[in-house]
Amino acid sequence: MRVALIGASGQLGSDLLPRLREAGHEVIPLRHADIEITDATNVAEVLNPLPLDLVINAAAYNLVDRAEDEPDVAYAVNALGPRNLARLCEAHGWRLLHISTDYVFGGDPIPPARPWTESNIPQPGGSYAISKLAGEYFVHAECLRNFVVRTCGLYGLAALRGAGKGNFVETMLRLGRDRKQLRVVDDQRCTPTATSDLADALVRLIETDAFGLYHATNSGSLTWCEFAREVFRLAKLEVEITPITTAEFGAKAHRPHFSVLDSRKLTSVIGGPLPDWHEALTGYLASREKFI
Ligand SMILES: NC(=O)c1ccc[n+]([C@@H]2O[C@H](COP(=O)([O-])OP(=O)(O)OC[C@H]3O[C@@H](n4cnc5c(N)ncnc54)[C@H](OP(=O)(O)O)[C@@H]3O)[C@@H](O)[C@H]2O)c1
Repeated sequence: MRVALIGASGQLGSDLLPRLREAGHEVIPLRHADIEITDATNVAEVLNPLPLDLVINAAAYNLVDRAEDEPDVAYAVNALGPRNLARLCEAHGWRLLHISTDYVFGGDPIPPARPWTESNIPQPGGSYAISKLAGEYFVHAECLRNFVVRTCGLYGLAALRGAGKGNFVETMLRLGRDRKQLRVVDDQRCTPTATSDLADALVRLIETDAFGLYHATNSGSLTWCEFAREVFRLAKLEVEITPITTAEFGAKAHRPHFSVLDSRKLTSVIGGPLPDWHEALTGYLASREKFI
């Protein structure tokens, strides 16, 4: 397929690019400097001349706390951007793959008994989450042949060269080298996911015609505090961790207490689950040693 990859220098985009090419796709990588998704005219100017089969939108505004202060900016990138892409894709008959987030389930004060499925009703709990959910709705409304994939807590090697907002693993490694004690939130359960594994799954998904909404994370679940402990254990850093609550941490934006996603729908389409979170973390730490 001929693919336009938007957000090509982000964490996910950077892992998608080589995998798409290895799978035989002809990829045009588009960085923020190449395309402004909030500007419908620019989107058309950049994409119209390209002979495409698929547009992948891995671009987003991911600054969850800052989004509370600038909701219009988050909405422009996360909702109007995908709307611009979806309209153009539909006009050309191109497919669209768009990425969304577990935070669409953030607003529920009562955690569910089991991981969220695609048929659960979202309840976004902040400006970032609202903007991402709006983006999903625009894609579904404007483009028939779409894949919308929700994922969680991404970490990819591109963060090492400054992509996006960084990631939790890199933040922990940096703090763990400087401090002997850390306080980490222990009442948010989810599934941090390696962009390398997500990219592998997405490459398999786009080769199908099974359009629609999917959840895609590494397998298993844990709290950020449990994840941090494992990061330090594997990295052989001695850090004393104090578990704290979300309220004690005091971030500006609301965070979900339970945003574990059920990825079985995706598993049935691509033929297997993503690796479990521990295997993913171990693989990431090993690859970053070679990367740096
Ligand atoms: N990161 C997470 O923990 C997480 C969790 C759940 C879901 N997701 C979703 O997964 C997807 C990939 O996330 P990621 O972590 O790979 O993101 P990322 O590393 O922050 O990369 C996003 C890319 O989008 C570009 N971009 C931002 N605004 C743009 C615009 N208006 N027009 C064109 N490009 C723009 C950024 O360029 P500049 O940096 O130059 O602006 C950046 O290269 C996103 O949809 C995100 O919402 C992420």
